[in-house]
Amino acid sequence: MDQNLASQLKSIEDKVASELKQCSDLDALQKIKAYFLGRKKGKLTQLIKLIPSLSINERKILGPKINQTKNKLLTLFQEKEKAFASSNVKSFFDPTLPGEKPIYGHLHPITQVCYEAEDIFEKMGFEIVEPFEIDDDFHVFETLNIPQGHPARDMWDTFWTENNFIPITHTSAMQNRILKSVKPPIRAIVPGRCFRHEATDARHEHTFYQIEGVYVDQNISLADLLGTLLSFLEAFFQQKLKYKIQPSYFPFVEPGLEFLISCVICKGRGCATCGHSGWLELIPCGPIHPNVLKMGGVNPEKYSGFAWGMGLDRLVMLRFAIEDIRLFHSGNLRFLEQF
Ligand code: PHE
Repeated sequence: MDQNLASQLKSIEDKVASELKQCSDLDALQKIKAYFLGRKKGKLTQLIKLIPSLSINERKILGPKINQTKNKLLTLFQEKEKAFASSNVKSFFDPTLPGEKPIYGHLHPITQVCYEAEDIFEKMGFEIVEPFEIDDDFHVFETLNIPQGHPARDMWDTFWTENNFIPITHTSAMQNRILKSVKPPIRAIVPGRCFRHEATDARHEHTFYQIEGVYVDQNISLADLLGTLLSFLEAFFQQKLKYKIQPSYFPFVEPGLEFLISCVICKGRGCATCGHSGWLELIPCGPIHPNVLKMGGVNPEKYSGFAWGMGLDRLVMLRFAIEDIRLFHSGNLRFLEQF
């Protein structure tokens, strides 16, 4: 009995000491105290309650031992309480300190620039249309004058789902729906996320953004296309720009063009961003092919128009001097917090 009780007392002391070491606040301290010294079920209290049932001789020996343990525990608890009290003094609340700034998230740089571009186009009379993120062969290719087996399909590194849908390779997939939706005049932009089976590098991502433009009316000429793109870019970059066009090829425009502007970083003198040419190849575009108008229910004898597919990521990179497109989806907070 003696041996047994002595070892129980010892183990209680050890447990209290080790639990107090890990205990980091007053609440936890109260719980430990209640567990060992609680009036009804406290581990030590239960031993104390045994004292009256002991013989006089046992009481003489064991009584003081139990009491010693009780006092030890009380001292340990007191010391811990004092330690908490003095550390509280250190964190005394000072109402004169400036408030802590809450951490808010913010819009991704791509979203910020997209909203900015949308604002400019809205002021120019364009409506905003959202694309489908997954679409079908008919809208991504057929209605854009790229039938099955057409070699131009190789220009798009297309992902396919198992049931033959396409995470859109370009926002042009909306052209047919836009043409069908209203009678000309039509002015619409389609900001959207596109996907390609790309080998990624600093300039190419498998997931990227475009802002498509579709403009249809009577008597539309190439000058309207050039004027529209130049007005947008000058408003966006807040500077006068030089521009030029180069021939290109897309089956849904005729002729296919690339719209280039003088480099906004070096003002045309030549730098790493423009590959030392002084020019930035920014926007593929062109007058809408008559077949595309026809498939959209628009009479090409009466109406003409133009379309473009601008890379939004490129605009963001130019705006903030970002050198690697892969940072956009990196989830790297040190990158994102700069915007
Ligand atoms: N859809 C083309 C692409 O993604 C770009 C484009 C759009 C070209 C509209 C001309 C007219 O490559």
